[in-house]
Amino acid sequence: MTDDRQTAHAASFTHNADEYAAVRPGYPEEAVDLLLPDGARDVLDLAAGTGKLTQALVARGVRVVAVEPADGMREQLVALLPQVEVHAGTAEAIPLPDASLDAVTVAQAWHWFDEPAAAAEVARVLRPGGTLGIVWNDRDEDVPWVGAYGALLHEVAGPQLARGTHPTLGDAFTDVLRTDVRWEHAVSPEDLVRLAGTRSYALVLPADERAALLERVRTLVTTHPDLVGRERVAVPYTTRVYTARRR
Ligand SMILES: C[S@@+](CC[C@H](N)C(=O)[O-])C[C@H]1O[C@@H](n2cnc3c(N)ncnc32)[C@H](O)[C@@H]1O
Repeated sequence: MTDDRQTAHAASFTHNADEYAAVRPGYPEEAVDLLLPDGARDVLDLAAGTGKLTQALVARGVRVVAVEPADGMREQLVALLPQVEVHAGTAEAIPLPDASLDAVTVAQAWHWFDEPAAAAEVARVLRPGGTLGIVWNDRDEDVPWVGAYGALLHEVAGPQLARGTHPTLGDAFTDVLRTDVRWEHAVSPEDLVRLAGTRSYALVLPADERAALLERVRTLVTTHPDLVGRERVAVPYTTRVYTARRR
């Protein structure tokens, strides 16, 4: 993806933040366990979006600070979690002091960052021995209907950016580990249509192409033999969790 296209996609999250909050999946508890090292007290949720992961961190009783560049996403986050300190900012210029955090989490967003700049900034704000945790939810496309749903989206989006991304963190980090957590998220068929509409590549389409894509998704989720007549559908995910320790 070119830098311009990547910037447009990243900026697309400003629109439709309420849809994002309503239909995107959260993260399984086992993944949250992995993101929080024992004894962690001060945690930054970077690229916090509408607060899907932030909420799970707050529930663990740690002090959470959130950084998010998109105004619309931040508004949702503040409304959901008024107790959280929220800053406008980016991964490449984190508006927090040096060595002030025990853990930094990044959910569904590391692929949007300028990786060397973000890794250097995360290393700067972490205390020595602090951890960086990066997660992505990948739909399990080996399940036939999920494969067909993904194929429709890939037609528009090309290869998925997040799916092929593995963090390269540089010398400031050690003990890089990947753990996969399998789980399911139950939604209605119409939510599957809305979910497709929250993908960055759908958000940047011209209105008529976006409507055509969502109509094709609606046809799929209402006529696929494994989904027809269903009120709820379990979407299978593998959540990829990467953890690393600041030297
Ligand atoms: C797919 S959303 C994930 C939001 C949230 N972490 C979640 O799990 O729902 C990606 C987020 O990354 C943010 N983002 C994009 N580029 C960024 C950057 N360079 N620095 C920080 N955040 C960025 C977007 O504004 C958006 O809120």
